[in-house]
Amino acid sequence: MPSSIVILGTGSCAPTKIVSNHDLAKVVDTSDEWIVTRTGIRERHIAGQHEPTSELAARAASAAIADARLTAADIDLVVLATVTPDMPMPSTACAVQRKLGISERAMCFDLNAACTGFLYALDVARSLMAAGHHRHALVIGAEKLSSFLDWQDRSTCVLFGDGAGAVVLGQASEPGRGILGCYLGAEGVDPSLLCIPGGGCLHPASAHSVEHRQHYVKMKGREIFKMAVRVMAGAAREILEQHGLTADQITWVIPHQANLRIIETLAKDLALPLDRFIINLDRYGNTSSASIPIALDEARRAGRIHPGEISLLVAFGGGLTYGSALIRW
Ligand SMILES: CC(C)(COP(=O)(O)OP(=O)(O)OC[C@H]1O[C@@H](n2cnc3c(N)ncnc32)[C@H](O)[C@@H]1OP(=O)(O)O)[C@@H](O)C(=O)NCCC(=O)NCCS
Repeated sequence: MPSSIVILGTGSCAPTKIVSNHDLAKVVDTSDEWIVTRTGIRERHIAGQHEPTSELAARAASAAIADARLTAADIDLVVLATVTPDMPMPSTACAVQRKLGISERAMCFDLNAACTGFLYALDVARSLMAAGHHRHALVIGAEKLSSFLDWQDRSTCVLFGDGAGAVVLGQASEPGRGILGCYLGAEGVDPSLLCIPGGGCLHPASAHSVEHRQHYVKMKGREIFKMAVRVMAGAAREILEQHGLTADQITWVIPHQANLRIIETLAKDLALPLDRFIINLDRYGNTSSASIPIALDEARRAGRIHPGEISLLVAFGGGLTYGSALIRW
């Protein structure tokens, strides 16, 4: 009987168009200095008109399948985390299935847990696999946030970017390796902290919703910052405790890439130096559910992750959702 759910391959996709802070300063009243000082972000990738979320997701997934030395025919579960689906229905996971030629016997669905989405998807996929229903799962975080940003609102449009990351999960009979555990939760206290208010059944698309720019991301940055710092540290400490580990046993922390100051605060809280954190937000901005799998894929491909090491993944996002996961390679 297989005893571990392991990551067999990773992949990611960044649209080719790069928009720097200097480029943004020509569109809204901001500056490279303000954005770098407050967030650490220098540039982000922005998808083109013919690059929907499913396209970014399919490219990342294809790379992950190849990295796992499998083919699309081997995949029997697709869980895709996104807050920016191609459309409300059908799911973006089904679009990925179609694009990659994944079997019609595969279970395919989207999951929305905002920026914690990838960790939620990882836990859902590994639980389904542990129940014995699936052999190879594709877990994807993919976003085209640029379609939901108000390019007149400097307080949000400078923070986000587009991209996708994916992992392929398989089974291995090596206890103590792979996904050691996930810890997930949510504080659904105040949707107005971070939301896209329009387009759902509460505020369906109308002339009024368009006029009031309800189809764009709205955020109370300072409140989110304070909550983020608290829940990230809590999620990290909780999962370490659950597994009887201390922070210094973690080789890499792979945090959600929202703001360098949030990551620095987490590093202080865990008493770990910043060089134990995988950080790429300077080149991507916040890609929501794609941020952790992109960082993970980049770190693996750069040869920074080695067998036997333990990585700690930790995220927070709209909802407010939070989560952490431990992986032994
Ligand atoms: C958004 C964020 C960078 C703002 O940083 P901050 O230090 O809290 O800045 P404040 O909100 O206090 O704003 C300071 C000033 O900068 C201004 N400002 C906001 N965006 C700006 C921009 N892009 N360029 C220049 N000035 C800007 C504000 O209008 C405000 O001006 P005022 O003092 O005259 O009112 C920070 O709060 C943050 O990162 N929050 C978390 C957001 C996040 O992670 N969201 C994703 C969750 S998954």
